[in-house]
Amino acid sequence: LAKKQKRIVIAGAPASGKGTQCEMIVKKFGLTHISAGDLLRAAVAAGTEAGKKAKEYMDRGDLVPNDVVVTMVKDRLAQPDCAKGWLLDGYPRSEEQAQALIESGINPDLFLLLDVPDEILIDRVVGRRLDPVDGTIYHMTFFPPPTPEIAARLTQRSDDTEEKAANRLAVHHRNVDAVVGKYANIMKNVDGNRAKQDVFKDIERLIKAM
Ligand code: AP5
Repeated sequence: LAKKQKRIVIAGAPASGKGTQCEMIVKKFGLTHISAGDLLRAAVAAGTEAGKKAKEYMDRGDLVPNDVVVTMVKDRLAQPDCAKGWLLDGYPRSEEQAQALIESGINPDLFLLLDVPDEILIDRVVGRRLDPVDGTIYHMTFFPPPTPEIAARLTQRSDDTEEKAANRLAVHHRNVDAVVGKYANIMKNVDGNRAKQDVFKDIERLIKAM
């Protein structure tokens, strides 16, 4: 019998560790990682119509309108590499987005919600750096780059300031309950305020139990 492909959503506040855990999940389980934020940043960088529309919202830390993001994610999920199972990161983020997924017949089997207290998140945001060469996520205090060469090429996201992160956090708190309400039957809360390997151990166990 063919094994059912895994379809997982990972959610949580800004800088709760979604991207970091996705790196580890992909390595272990070989799912296709789809990050709504990465798709949007790629569209902005490419200067597409969708990207032009998204930019001002992302600059403020507000949700990008659904007419941009819903189709973008749906199209991505229809690509052939998603047939092996997928890991959807940062989507759905509002009740309307959850409703749109459900209406399209796109149903995850597991919804992971990373819990991290607000006061921890701002430090994580302002210390985050990204390696443009291989996409690795670093933190200047918690996971510093291993060599001076890597340190010299790291970049910072333009929405990773304290002020913008505070708005991203407020947007998260306004929307999360409605999304959680739609997925209560497959929801697993994970304590994200621990070492990343410990967080991953819990996630690994939950995925294996699927
Ligand atoms: P998006 O890119 O999704 O950003 P976000 O939700 O704010 O999440 P982050 O990427 O900031 O954090 P993360 O949880 O992945 O944490 P990470 O692992 O990097 O969205 C950006 C914008 O795009 C939104 O504001 C919006 O405008 C738009 N957008 C996106 N999705 C949308 C949607 N569905 N609808 C509409 N608009 C949308 O970790 C953070 C830092 O902490 C790193 O430095 C990391 O090294 C460190 N860290 C991670 N884990 C640990 C740990 N266990 N201990 C200590 N440090 C840790």
